[in-house]
Amino acid sequence: MHIVKVDAHQILDSRGLPTVECRLTLADGAVIVASVPSGASTGRHEAHELRDNNAAVYHGKGVLSAVRHIKQVIAPGILLGKIPDIIAMDKEIIALDGTKDCSALGANAMLAVSIAVIRAQAWIEGVELFEFINDLWQFPEPMLPRCMFNMINGGMHAQSDLVFQEFLVIPSHHDFAQSLACADDFYQQLKLVLHGAGLGTAIGDEGGFVPLFTDKTVFAEEQALSLLLHTAEQFTWGVESVSFGLDSAATHFYDSGANRYRFHEQFLTAPALIELYKNLKGRFPLVSLEDGLAEDDWQGWQWLMEQLGAGVQIVGDDLLVTNTKRIQQGLTQKAMNAVLIKPNQIGTVSRTVEAIRLCQENNLATIISHRSGETNDDFIADLAVGSAAGQMKAGAPVRGERVAKYNRLLWIAEMLEG
Ligand code: PGA
Ligand code: ZN
Repeated sequence: MHIVKVDAHQILDSRGLPTVECRLTLADGAVIVASVPSGASTGRHEAHELRDNNAAVYHGKGVLSAVRHIKQVIAPGILLGKIPDIIAMDKEIIALDGTKDCSALGANAMLAVSIAVIRAQAWIEGVELFEFINDLWQFPEPMLPRCMFNMINGGMHAQSDLVFQEFLVIPSHHDFAQSLACADDFYQQLKLVLHGAGLGTAIGDEGGFVPLFTDKTVFAEEQALSLLLHTAEQFTWGVESVSFGLDSAATHFYDSGANRYRFHEQFLTAPALIELYKNLKGRFPLVSLEDGLAEDDWQGWQWLMEQLGAGVQIVGDDLLVTNTKRIQQGLTQKAMNAVLIKPNQIGTVSRTVEAIRLCQENNLATIISHRSGETNDDFIADLAVGSAAGQMKAGAPVRGERVAKYNRLLWIAEMLEG
């Protein structure tokens, strides 16, 4: 069944900034929709997100040029009148773009089309998207991911003292519905704990709380982790039911000129920052650390792995940007033992799959991830299950654009249970 119409629009993401939506109409009248997210703490090596840079509207963040590329270039050149075929079409889109970083067509335009194409193909085959992904690329059996839920937001996702970006809670349950319920109870309890401590319950970009600590004698990150521990000790599931993760997003407090990390009043070397992580690991149930160091601090990452890699999941996000070349470099240098996977860092579904596959072949853990600016598109839930990635993070268990992914996992869990 072929594509009879291609449409694209500028829509708003969860931060109220423009992003791209693509609509494919098939010969049977079905309309297949896909939209793409956008990061705030983006890595330097990510694929290029095309923005209009016309300061008169949307602070220059409009995506009308990306939309135009879908309608005027990708549609007539690749899509119209053709039968959806993700592998062939992704290749054609990459060839049409012709750049290393997707900067001609825009990674936002390319990924919106790519997701729409694979969704259309699954529709035509009459199977669920996760099943289609699983079959096409011959992944291990579909599997619900263990999720990391973002409870407290800092860094570039909130206006606060917190230098680190994400404070995550990881329920230990293997059953997804149980793990979601546990995370949600944790979130509600944390709200009560914050109220009790006289701290506000405003939320950041990914739905986690943004406490404004007044005690300046203890650094804010330690206070945030203490709040999480306090909540874990109080909530009904018990302290043993959760462990913690951090995404420091350290690229964004690294001063490359001085080769130092700006952490509150301190100006830390990589070894000093690693000491700080070791100290936190000793006091809190910390099992996962993402972007603990900056995106090009390869030496620092090696030290981090040597010192903490045995007991902690060391996750590369800005370091690796879902790019097989950088993941390969990370493997060679033993820089990490886990990889964050974000489709819009690399521009197409096929390239995302190549990154996941490389990780699986090399026993690296994979975490499928949302972005801080999201839409209600739930593609990453199907990708996580279909690729048997093992883990996923999609923010707090609140806000429509975050729960869209978790709610999709609930449906998939039911389907898999039969
Ligand atoms: P971003 O944050 O989407 O703003 O990049 C998410 C992350 O760093 O994991
Ligand atoms: Zn990150």
